[in-house]
Amino acid sequence: MAVSVSIAKDKLMRVRADAYALCVEQGALDAVKKVFGSVFPSILEYCKKHDFTGKAETITSVPVDHDGRLIYLLVLGLGAKKDKKLSVENYRRAIAMAIRFMQKNKLATLALQLPDTQLFGVDDDFLAQEMATIVSMTDYVFDTFKEVSGGRVPLKLSIILDDHDAKKIKKGLERGELIGAAVNDARQWINLPANIMRPDELASQARQLSKKYGFACRIFSEKEIQDMGLGGLAAVSSGSEQDCCLIVMEYKTNKENAQTIAFVGKGITYDSGGLSLKPAKSMETMKEDMSGAAAVIATMQLLAQLKPDINVIGIAPVAENLPSGSSAKPGDIVRMYNGMTVEIKNTDAEGRLLLADALAYVIKNYKPAAVIDVATLTGACMHALGPFFTGLFTEHEEVKKRIEQAGAISGESVWQLPLTDDYKKAMDSVVADLNNIADPKYMAGATTAAVFLQKFVGDTPWAHLDIAGTSFDVPNIPYYSRETATGVGVRLLTQVAMEWGKHP
Ligand code: BES
Ligand code: ZN
Ligand code: ZN
Repeated sequence: MAVSVSIAKDKLMRVRADAYALCVEQGALDAVKKVFGSVFPSILEYCKKHDFTGKAETITSVPVDHDGRLIYLLVLGLGAKKDKKLSVENYRRAIAMAIRFMQKNKLATLALQLPDTQLFGVDDDFLAQEMATIVSMTDYVFDTFKEVSGGRVPLKLSIILDDHDAKKIKKGLERGELIGAAVNDARQWINLPANIMRPDELASQARQLSKKYGFACRIFSEKEIQDMGLGGLAAVSSGSEQDCCLIVMEYKTNKENAQTIAFVGKGITYDSGGLSLKPAKSMETMKEDMSGAAAVIATMQLLAQLKPDINVIGIAPVAENLPSGSSAKPGDIVRMYNGMTVEIKNTDAEGRLLLADALAYVIKNYKPAAVIDVATLTGACMHALGPFFTGLFTEHEEVKKRIEQAGAISGESVWQLPLTDDYKKAMDSVVADLNNIADPKYMAGATTAAVFLQKFVGDTPWAHLDIAGTSFDVPNIPYYSRETATGVGVRLLTQVAMEWGKHP
């Protein structure tokens, strides 16, 4: 359901709405009195009585009678300043909490005062962009299969302009709506169960979007994949009756001599583990194993609309990992696209096989200035970092900086884990060039998976993002929801590309 957002040039309390929201810095409640005092003179006492001080991730709501109408005053905590700045992430969560309040109380119209952007050290358009992104992300519900969808009320939002630059705010809001919609597309594809979101279905989504937004999209069939020698991808798919595919998308800028970068996303529409079968419990959420591919496709769609000054290739190797008489077997040896051989010791370590082929493919055929892959690759990363940080693996300083900065700006946080020479022999095989699982002595499963991928990128600047922990069922963050996808990767990769376009 789309949220309609409009700009109001009036004062907050002069706009007609069901609820009115104001963000406040912790301990600076004077503003509350100033804005809401006219309709509820004892608002400060009310806040005090309810222990509301403006702490981050807190909200207080006051029902009041306003000219004979029941309205709600919402005060949203932004937390205290850190290094002289308020946190944009706290602002995102404050907005999300206001939207959750609206949903819970079945309210339709919300008038929202934009806070002073200088307090955050950002521009008007960025804060407006984040607001629109978060509103649409919070509004998303996966109710495709619910007969009764909970009687949701379509939301209307009025943004109070005050002293803000109307043009910038409008531009930011528009951009945010596009970002939110792309994130929600990725979430929807991930949430759709694996009996519906099959490899051909994901490919068809990519093809449709490429036509709609005008970027190139070529889909290689299983037969072509075998003929081209992507032996890792072919081996993973061999147990499934569904054909695998390789989705190759290209966004081209009009700017001359622009650099080309590439994004690669893991697209396992279902990971049963294959013959190295997962325990039942671990299989329950394995429709999420195409989150990387979803993030890359949604990012390409978004970039085709935002048009950064950089060429971007998006690649998604897509397959199902299932056991059958034709599956890859532990002990099988396959030849990869770059000619190396791999002993598949464990068929559940499948992601690295198809990613390695896709990495080698994009590097050989497009010679990108840098490649970033994004994948729900290891349970080990999820255990190491939990649900709030995506694992970052790279030995390339510049790419690392770009990703860390994009993480800080977009709100999709990353945390670097080791990838050093010490680990480089972890994947050595006695009988082939590489093993697909590490010598158990090495333990660090997220790092050893990255070591495997690194063998396929040569000298190309490359970073690997492990989103196993961050892509699905993230608790506590109010713009996400439980047991569903977050769409992580879309905001991060988009920010990387936008910034790269500005500063090659
Ligand atoms: N898709 C899984 C990783 C995963 C686990 C993603 C939990 C999301 C949540 C991946 O293909 C996998 O099974 N990895 C194995 C590797 C092992 C066999 C070396 C793992 O992490 O256990
Ligand atoms: Zn697996
Ligand atoms: Zn997997």
